[in-house]
Amino acid sequence: MAVSLSVPEADVALVRAASPLRPRVAVVLGSGLSGLADVATEAAVVGYGALEGFPRVGSVVGHAGKLVVGLLGGVPVVLFQGRAHQYQGVSALEAAYPTRLAAALGCDVLVVTNAAGGVVSRLSVGDLVVISDHMNLMGTNPLTGWPGPEGGFPFIPMRDAYDPELRAIMLDVAARQGVKVAEGVYAGLLGPSYETPAEVSMLAGLGADVVGMSTVPEVIAARALGLRVLGMSLVTNAAAGVGLSHAEVLEAGDKAATQLQRLVTEFVSRL
Ligand code: HPA
Repeated sequence: MAVSLSVPEADVALVRAASPLRPRVAVVLGSGLSGLADVATEAAVVGYGALEGFPRVGSVVGHAGKLVVGLLGGVPVVLFQGRAHQYQGVSALEAAYPTRLAAALGCDVLVVTNAAGGVVSRLSVGDLVVISDHMNLMGTNPLTGWPGPEGGFPFIPMRDAYDPELRAIMLDVAARQGVKVAEGVYAGLLGPSYETPAEVSMLAGLGADVVGMSTVPEVIAARALGLRVLGMSLVTNAAAGVGLSHAEVLEAGDKAATQLQRLVTEFVSRL
């Protein structure tokens, strides 16, 4: 069945009615990272529940479930506080809803953030990683059934999906702020179970640096819709770490979240 990447007109109208700002940049805030929305000024809030097209999922602690339109570093942005994950039972297309709404609102840059497990030993808890590339190991794709842009084909190139210029800007911002950031490859898995030690060895062998359960559908949809992407992971645990709990993932997020907020704020002001 043919599917569309568009979102209901009513959702676009609702966000436009909530704020006169016309966001250029969309930021998706991962587990424990939603604090960035609190530093936005002239903020208008829309609960996900009010958006017809936002997938209905049960709430997972750490995901606030609303979007904020406001100014970050003087730039109009839309911040998504929390996302729907495929492990909650939604499709890849639905998981990519923030990207699709961002495109419909006229954004041309998407910043995706996530909490991730560190696969390689050079990464420790609290490290920030600029995503250089991803591996889609979710077994799904948000473009399944999409006929492609008008008169085109759905075979979207994924080389440089994580925009080299945007990555360079973020690395420069981090250097100026004296924040250590690594670069690495993100492996996206379906979840919700964490990886076994054997799976983490496999991921390391494949060339992954971090692993998580989000981001990939959002980024694929962003490339299909022509948005440029910056991706950032916060390492909240060593993948296959012993006794890992969702609370620990959130706690690690708290510590580096402030750093990430400053980085993203300056990054956005440099666009
Ligand atoms: N694995 C997958 N997803 C994650 C992890 C992990 O170790 N940590 C945070 N999100």
